[in-house]
Amino acid sequence: MDVSSLIEKEKQRQRDTLMMIPSENYTYPEVRKAVGSILMHKYAEGYPGKRYYQGMEFVDQIESEARKQAKILFKTPHANVQPYSGSPANSAVYFALLEPKDTILGLTLSHGGHLTHGHPKITFSGRYFNTVHYQLSLESKNTGYFDFKEILKIAKKEKPKIIVAGTTAFPRIINWKEFAKIADEVGAYLMADISHIAGLVAGGSHPSPVPYADIVTTTTHKTLRGPRGALIMVTEKGMKKDPQLGDKIDKAVFPGLQGGPHLHTIAGIAIALQKAQSDDFKAYAQQVVKNASALAKELINNGFNLVTDGTDNHLIVVDLRNFNIDGKRAAEKLEKAGIVVNANTIPNDPNPPFKPSGIRLGTPALTVRGMREQEMKIIADIMLKSLDSDQDQLTIIADNVKKLLADYPIDLE
Ligand SMILES: Cc1ncc(COP(=O)(O)O)c(C=O)c1O
Repeated sequence: MDVSSLIEKEKQRQRDTLMMIPSENYTYPEVRKAVGSILMHKYAEGYPGKRYYQGMEFVDQIESEARKQAKILFKTPHANVQPYSGSPANSAVYFALLEPKDTILGLTLSHGGHLTHGHPKITFSGRYFNTVHYQLSLESKNTGYFDFKEILKIAKKEKPKIIVAGTTAFPRIINWKEFAKIADEVGAYLMADISHIAGLVAGGSHPSPVPYADIVTTTTHKTLRGPRGALIMVTEKGMKKDPQLGDKIDKAVFPGLQGGPHLHTIAGIAIALQKAQSDDFKAYAQQVVKNASALAKELINNGFNLVTDGTDNHLIVVDLRNFNIDGKRAAEKLEKAGIVVNANTIPNDPNPPFKPSGIRLGTPALTVRGMREQEMKIIADIMLKSLDSDQDQLTIIADNVKKLLADYPIDLE
């Protein structure tokens, strides 16, 4: 099988379909160039100025630049740019701060937490630590929001060493202050995992957790538009609590969990972090939210039920039960219409996880292509029509989607 031709086909797919999985995005051509560069030839175990190999003149400068830009962008005194991705970043924090069997408190996976937030049995975090979970509220007026009274109750009972605040499918603003109050009251570290919303935080479209959390982790490839990778940052608050925290994190990443850093990725991260400080990026982050909000409004007009009745960020979770179709089947139909989303659980989902009741979709990639509020109306209408279409009709819709996208070109070379 010719892999190069498969890459070309995938490129065409990314060009011709509406990329609406909210954790996906188009990165910059400069980032792709860095990630595909000769930097991947270099071994550099250790940190700038303290390596186990020679030939470090330039790669030390690259990693130092990435660390500097992360600290400037998120306003933290310490940043580690080496984690290979979001999951290893979260694992490194646990490895730095916990002993086996210590307690982690995080959001349940089926309510929008992540596997690495202590999902039991099948994950590293769930197997080696004592993990306990909070859920989103199921009370009628508050369904899908955090229930801070309940989180405090669980935290007081379970006495976690780390509380994780972070989500993969939560469409609202996260109230970091409330999480910090609970963590402070029970003497836990607060780890904010902003993997999904990092670009919104950087662009000023979502409050930053930095004044409230001890540690902030994030992937770099979602709303932040960088390459696949991650950051771990220690805040002033975290440093005050434990001046060794930065050192502990660095040691947990290397040599604790990883070997040689991926300098090609780190160079891509540095470029994305530089770009995220521009006025253009601020405008981008704002438009992502405006687009999601417009799309939510149009979907509601079209009879869709949304978890929390809308969104404040880049993503929307649709509860499809009134359409008599499960999330998996809906996502498959939409894919045939050229709209790529993912099936997702809704809070208290009556359906099993492989056939959940909802879909999750977002606007980060469409916004990169220059789409605005008026295109969101077109997309909401296409979504409604697609769910009621047969195979032939879906093929025609997919063709129209391709034509629509031709007006929003994207450089994928
Ligand atoms: C909140 C959150 N944390 C961590 C991760 C893990 O990132 P990765 O897939 O890069 O390991 C994700 C990825 O979806 C995420 O959404």
